[in-house]
Amino acid sequence: MSKKASCKLTDFAVSCGCAAKVGGKVLRQILAQVPQTADNHLLVALENFDDAAVYELNEEMALVETLDFFPPVVDDPYTFGQIAAANALSDIYAMGAEPLVAMAIVCFPTRTLSTDILVAILKGGADKVREAGAVMVGGHTVEDERPMYGVVVTGKAKPKEIVTNAGAKKGDLLILTKPLGTGIIITAMKAGLAGPQEKDEVIASMVALNKTASRIMLEVGVNAATDITGFGFLGHLLELATASRVAVEINSSKVPLFPAAIDHARIGLIPEGAYRNREFVGGRVRFAPQVDLAQEDLLFDPQTSGGLLISVPPAKAEILLEKLHQQGVEKAGLIGEVVSGEKGLITVKK
Ligand code: CO
Ligand code: CO
Repeated sequence: MSKKASCKLTDFAVSCGCAAKVGGKVLRQILAQVPQTADNHLLVALENFDDAAVYELNEEMALVETLDFFPPVVDDPYTFGQIAAANALSDIYAMGAEPLVAMAIVCFPTRTLSTDILVAILKGGADKVREAGAVMVGGHTVEDERPMYGVVVTGKAKPKEIVTNAGAKKGDLLILTKPLGTGIIITAMKAGLAGPQEKDEVIASMVALNKTASRIMLEVGVNAATDITGFGFLGHLLELATASRVAVEINSSKVPLFPAAIDHARIGLIPEGAYRNREFVGGRVRFAPQVDLAQEDLLFDPQTSGGLLISVPPAKAEILLEKLHQQGVEKAGLIGEVVSGEKGLITVKK
């Protein structure tokens, strides 16, 4: 009993949810050894490391499939459930799809943690799925030493409207819809070094669905998109640039950040996942000498329930940004552009 009472939810976390994720480099080596099944119905499969798989049912309708789960990133179980669900739903939104059905994936130590905690996690997840307009239909629970929670999501989209990470074109402008720094601030929270205001700010951002941003991106019409999660801004940008066979240039001073995250980064409060992301992106990124190390660290910081990164034709960028700002995606910013140059190369300017 006493053991149950003394456990905090984040005692089980590895500094941040994304730290539990296998690094991009290792994952690629593993997946390269597993033969992939080709299927004519698969419109988007594994080859470009896109956010979700897309399976065409007929000319009018495709299924969009994704899943994500991880250990607690915050102590409040209801909030953790909301964040995990928002994070999983994000892959559906990044493809311009609409979520329909969700199922929970749970690992939970019923011997060391009160089952009330699990009830609250499941409630948080179910409420977030409902807010997304989808329905939670069940799931699977495994007794394990460390709690983990996540969601499998099935969405739908018209095949012609699907937004992939492979459509960015030279001249496009790049827009990011949420600030970076969730991994660093979660690390600070765990160390007891985060102030109440930064905590509230980062939790509000992680809990927020990318639903509005996704709808607006479909209305305006964009060339490519992905969401920023465990591989960090530069990891997901690299996937987008590689899949689209383009080079990109980023203005680091324009990238939206949580202000506290840069302070924590300056004193070296960096989650382990950020180093793995740096290793994964490796020589594909060139930093201008004026970009300081803390800023670089923010760009590699693994995000939990991060924003959408959208590649939009320049004539539409202003409209997209204005609509985002007007409809509550206030932190969205214009952060760079698609340029001519070596395919998959990222240049980061001050
Ligand atoms: Co994603
Ligand atoms: Co994902």
